[in-house]
Amino acid sequence: MPAAAVDVEAILAWYGQRRRDLPWRRTRDPYRILVSEVMLQQTQVARVVPYYQAFLALFPDEAALAAAPVADVLRAWSGLGYNRRALTLQTAARVVVRDGWPRDVDGLRLLPGVGPYTAAAVASFAFDLQVAAVDTNVRRVIARLDRRERTPAELQRRAAALLPPARAADWNQAVMELGATVCGSRTPVCDACPAIGCRSRGRPALAASGRARGAGGAPARIRFEDSDRFVRGRIVAALAAGEPLPDGFEPVRLERALAGLERDGLVVREGASVRLP
Ligand code: ADE
Repeated sequence: MPAAAVDVEAILAWYGQRRRDLPWRRTRDPYRILVSEVMLQQTQVARVVPYYQAFLALFPDEAALAAAPVADVLRAWSGLGYNRRALTLQTAARVVVRDGWPRDVDGLRLLPGVGPYTAAAVASFAFDLQVAAVDTNVRRVIARLDRRERTPAELQRRAAALLPPARAADWNQAVMELGATVCGSRTPVCDACPAIGCRSRGRPALAASGRARGAGGAPARIRFEDSDRFVRGRIVAALAAGEPLPDGFEPVRLERALAGLERDGLVVREGASVRLP
């Protein structure tokens, strides 16, 4: 089946009217956009917004972030989760201060913590380059539009073919917005969708991902509270607040989490004492 003939203008018009007023949509500053994209990598928009604003108040540009004590950066990040992102972002800021901003996707990808999606997002939002940013939302929207799953390389080509001339920034945001607000993974709301030509309109949703679902298919998940990541987050939050290590965890769990944090450079241990770097 050929790819769907999608009304790109209708989607752009919908985005113009319905877009959420998110703070990173008001800037073309590559630093501010990079901060937002790194925060959004594993975290929901609503949770990111207050952290984003507080972080930028403390570290308004790459020079401020590059020069900041690591402990201050972790303190500002603590609570958002995946704290290693904060260290990687600071390393990227230091590279940018030293070398300047890369001006193309390949150069952006060389920055620590910047993968293909983030590079394309910064390239299009900050530098207006004609590149398609394909994240999970975009992948799902395009899969539904064409009613077809593709390999990553095929998907990237299809996403590039959809880009309207000179509108990559708005288009990338629009498709992401569609995936986040209308074409959700479990609950697509086709009645509210501007995607004229979509092959999945009114039809059962394509599976949200390659993961098997239903009886016996879903992988067993451990509760977040039982994960190492939870303990690590509690440790960093306590140290960032100037408090002692959290109690209530089995010593072996605490030790495992501390060892992981130390390995990742998120804490420093000296004898029995533990501190932020
Ligand atoms: N998720 C990842 N990047 C985003 C962006 N720029 N806007 C909204 N949601 C996003």
